[in-house]
Order: sequence, then structure tokens, then C-alpha cells
Amino acid sequence: MDHFDYRDGVLHAEDVPLPDLAEAVGTPFYCYSTATIERHFRVFSEALAGVGVEPPLIAYAVKANPNKSVIATLAALGAGADVVSIGELRRAMAGGVPADRIVFSGVGKTREELTEALSLGIFQFNLESEPEAEMLSEVAVALGKTAPVSFRVNPDVDAGTHRKISTGKAENKFGVPISRALDAYALAARLPGLDPLGVAVHIGSQLTQLGPMEAAFARVGELIAELRAAGHDIRRADLGGGLGIPYDRSKAVPPLPSAYGEMVARVTRDWGVRLTFEPGRLIVGNAGVLVSRVIRVKQGETSSFIIVDAAMNDLIRPTLYEAWHDILAVEPREGRIAATIVGPVCETGDTFAEDRPISPVDAGDLIAFMTAGAYGATMASTYNSRPLVPEVVVSKEKWAIVRPRPPVESMIDADLLAPWLADKG
Ligand code: LLP
Repeated sequence: MDHFDYRDGVLHAEDVPLPDLAEAVGTPFYCYSTATIERHFRVFSEALAGVGVEPPLIAYAVKANPNKSVIATLAALGAGADVVSIGELRRAMAGGVPADRIVFSGVGKTREELTEALSLGIFQFNLESEPEAEMLSEVAVALGKTAPVSFRVNPDVDAGTHRKISTGKAENKFGVPISRALDAYALAARLPGLDPLGVAVHIGSQLTQLGPMEAAFARVGELIAELRAAGHDIRRADLGGGLGIPYDRSKAVPPLPSAYGEMVARVTRDWGVRLTFEPGRLIVGNAGVLVSRVIRVKQGETSSFIIVDAAMNDLIRPTLYEAWHDILAVEPREGRIAATIVGPVCETGDTFAEDRPISPVDAGDLIAFMTAGAYGATMASTYNSRPLVPEVVVSKEKWAIVRPRPPVESMIDADLLAPWLADKG
């Protein structure tokens, strides 16, 4: 459920008409709904309220949408953060997440990143390999600290999602193979400065079935028992993120958080651990739209093209994952046409949708790419020297620009001329 609705034929974000924002901010722009973010966090938290031995840590996966206002909205509700770089860690703290609610994930944490995170006293490191454990041990000894660690195990489960966002198969780069986990924990227990207190798993993103998650969690449950039998004091389990959201309103709805919560409660009933979750998309996906203006409509040989001022550099998901985003006219007209919706970037991949039914639109009309709050702005680039898209947050009738559009000059001035070209610039 989201708070983007038509009122009197005009698409609104909460109480704000999107054309008003387009007028004030220019297009394209991302718009996030505070009420939707808050609602999704609450629904997810409530669905998991009773699992584990103490209230779970809901560590929002910052990568989905790292805007400081988004993080601050969630931090105010008690969210922790799942981060994968020191940049995300600093952002999470700048948004008000305390260090002791931060989980550091990721397959390639550097010594510098491990050092800073350990100095700050984060909740947990999710280690992805034995050499990473060895490096963190060295860092911990140097700092005179003990690092709380889990190994992210790779359960070799097919998550049934797009191959580029599937992470729990044996051939994926993520985690320690579950078959080697006992050895990895034995190593961590021997290494000074590490407290191997948990197990972590995350098998992929945009998961639309509970079965693969349940299979992965069941393997984690077995591993916890084996680890305890081997003398490890396992007190935590991190079940990752990944629960999918509806992108295509005409298709079946992925399992609701309540169904996920029931499955987790059933599978983890006897684990005797505190649980952590790392939802990203589920919290912010439906809370954002990308608003764009039609530049012109052009008739091709076989299709009618709607050329809009957003492009693949602003929202890469359709071309990268063949992802579907509903595309709505902000002020729909009578009737229906089928058109191919494209951006101005010089690549055929700069196509948002092919032969998509849509209300007839003309140059100057506004359209909205729905469900763009997760992995939207954060994956944007400046390809074709297009400035990063501004971000706006709405709360009821209030709105604020929370990331302004940079002037093109600032992008050009960011380059430095090599000294031997100084007289050429
Ligand atoms: N935890 C870990 C360790 C992760 O790698 C991820 C996402 C999450 C949590 C959050 O997963 P979520 O709840 O958002 O599914 N750019 C892609 C998605 C990449 C997901 C990467 N990892 C997309 O646009 O679909």
C-alpha cells in the first residue's frame, strides 16, 4: 500500500499534487512519501514483533535508499541500519542511527572500513570469508577490542529471483559455503579479538516466494544446533532482507510481511537467539516515484515512442534487470494507447517499457514511474552528463527538497584539467 493516489484526476503524493512539485523543482525528480515509509516499517516490525528471544533488530538496508531524510525517518522509528561500506555507515549515523544498531555486511570490506566500524562500536560484522575474519582479528587486536561477528553462510538455495540479484547459490560470490561453516567458526573462535556470536544469511532480493527463504532459514537452524554442539555460544541470527514487493499491479502479490512473520516464527521457534532483519526494498520501494515530463512523442516505423526527460541513468532497473515499473500519467486523459517509453540517452537500452498501454500523452505532460523508492536514485549516474535527479520528501501537505539538482557547471568544474592542458581549457 502506498500514499500516491489520484484526487480530482491528478496524481498526488500524500496531500501534495505532483504537478505542483514539478513546477517548483523541475523534472525529472524522485518523490518519497513519509507516510508510506513509516507504514511499511511499522507493518514489517509488527509482523516480526514476537520472534526471537528479545525484540528483533530491524536494520534497514541503507543501499535501497540512502537519502539522509529517509534514514532519519526510519531512525526516529527505532530502525537500525544494514550497511555495506563506510560511506553507508557514516550516512546511517548522520541520519541518526546509533552505532550499536548497525550491521556491517558486504563481501569486500577493507581494513580501513573494519577499523573505523570497530572503533565506532557497531552491533555486528557479517563476515563473508575466512580471510576477512583474519583481517578483522588483526584490527581488533590492534584496537584492543572484541568484534561481535556472524558469518554470512551461503546455503546453496535458489531464491527464484533475477540472476543478478540472487545471492544464495553456491556459485555466487557471497558468504561462506554452509558446508565449510563449522571450520570457519572454529577459526573465528581461535582468532583473538573475535566473538562469533551469530549466523547470518541473505539469499537474494525481490523474493516473491517464501519457500526458498524457509529452506535457507531451516539450514541456518541446523547450523546453529551444530555450532552449539561444537561449543560456540550462538546468541544471534540475521535473516537478511529480500522480501519482494508488487511492481506490476496486474500480477500476483508477493507474500505479505504477516505471512513472512508467521513463517519466521515457525522456523525459528526453538533457536533461542535474538533475530536481525535487513529489509530494504520492502520499506522504501513503494514509497517513491520518479516523475518525468514528456519531451515529445515520435512515430517510429513500428512503434510510437514517448520520449521523456528521465533516462536509464536516473532509473537503471528496467535496462539492468528487465524490471517492470508501472508508468502512470500524472493527469490521465480519456482513452488508452500503447507506446514505447524511452529516455534521451543514446542507447537502445534506455527503454523503460515497450508497447506499454498508457493514457494518451503529449509533449509537456507528466508521467510517474511507480515503485521507484528502492534502488532508484541511489543507482543513478551522470551518464551523458545528465545531473543527478533531485529528491523530494513529502509529509502530508508539506514537502522539502532533500537532495537538490546539481548545476551542470558543478559537474564540469569537478573535472580538473591536466596541467599540460591548462592553456587548452
Ligand atoms: N542484506 C543484504 C546483505 C543485501 O545484500 C541486501 C540487498 C539487502 C539486505 C536488502 O535486500 P532487499 O530487502 O532490499 O531485497 N539493485 C537491485 C537489488 C540489489 C539488492 C542487493 N542486496 C534491484 O534494483 O532490484
